[in-house]
Amino acid sequence: MPRMYNFGAGPATMPEPVLKEVQEELLDWQGLGLSVMEISHRSPEFIEIATQAEKDFRELLSISDEYAVLFTHGGATMHNAMIPLNLALKDGTVDYINSGHWAKRSIKEAQKYTNVNIAASSEESNFSYFPEQSSWNISENSAYVHYTPNETIGGLCLRTLDYSSTPIVADYSSGILSEPIDINKFSLIYGGAQKNIGPAGLGFAIIKKSLLGNAQDITPTLLNYSSIHDGESMYNTPPTFAWYMAGKVFKWLKDLGGIGEMAKINIRKAEKLYSFIDSSNFYRNEIKIENRSIMNVPFLLKNEELNSLFLEESKHAGLLALKGHRSVGGMRASIYNALPEEGVNALIGFMDEFEKKHNS
Ligand SMILES: Cc1ncc(COP(=O)(O)O)c(C=O)c1O
Repeated sequence: MPRMYNFGAGPATMPEPVLKEVQEELLDWQGLGLSVMEISHRSPEFIEIATQAEKDFRELLSISDEYAVLFTHGGATMHNAMIPLNLALKDGTVDYINSGHWAKRSIKEAQKYTNVNIAASSEESNFSYFPEQSSWNISENSAYVHYTPNETIGGLCLRTLDYSSTPIVADYSSGILSEPIDINKFSLIYGGAQKNIGPAGLGFAIIKKSLLGNAQDITPTLLNYSSIHDGESMYNTPPTFAWYMAGKVFKWLKDLGGIGEMAKINIRKAEKLYSFIDSSNFYRNEIKIENRSIMNVPFLLKNEELNSLFLEESKHAGLLALKGHRSVGGMRASIYNALPEEGVNALIGFMDEFEKKHNS
């Protein structure tokens, strides 16, 4: 069977060359007569994989020595508890920007461990725009301000950020490695791997080393950024296979020319799709133009009764997982780094034909 175009929001499509390489190496990694899944995480062979992956991740994002790079368990969600536990006092205050589904999740978890102030929210508009940074009403003595630069479900994003005197924490799950960012503006960037990095379950954190060592007393060891850093992300057995695959994705991205080159492709893909949607009276996207995500493109059909037919026919055309999240409805095309431009062209071709058939 030929490979399909997977528009799923995550676990997302992986670069085909990476999958092929993994397939070739699966039974016999580097002549060891074993799969990489079967070797000790403490073996020199695995340490080399881990070290190289971190080096490539650092190089792709120009991460300085001022920051620790951690690979973690529990995807992005685990960090929702780790962040307040590590960076805030129980009776302290932190700020969160409420921009949609994932921000709300982060807020709910943080409220268990500290006092949360909602510094800005676009909930009143059903998250049709991202609150501008200049409108964030940050508390005095706030330990940090948390935001979600790319809301995967709503399809909205904040693509620029000014320096801030309050430490900035960002859930970059669905935006990481999609376009260049200045790490130095952030105190902590974290996320799950399953969009632009690798298999689900693996998480990452890029944290200013100066913030380590201040966790609340109740913090479980495995949720303490300091213990993870001291143990070189191997306090316990790490998700070795996912880490190995992440390393291959970093290499793939470097070979492609790095994030600058990737961003050009991503922007081109997104612009094509949005301009097709905007030119049609059959499809629509309701996000404020400057806040439209270049990774997740939600769209609605004029006639919602056609949703099931659209999904059925698109699946037959080899375009998978286009169903929008249940909280938003309609469709969503996730067009992450590994989703080839030809996939976006095929989607637009399909949407155009579907419109011609059904726009009466
Ligand atoms: C922006 C964002 N944050 C958090 C998560 C949760 O990630 P995980 O399932 O890895 O915990 C997701 C998952 O899609 C996401 O898109």
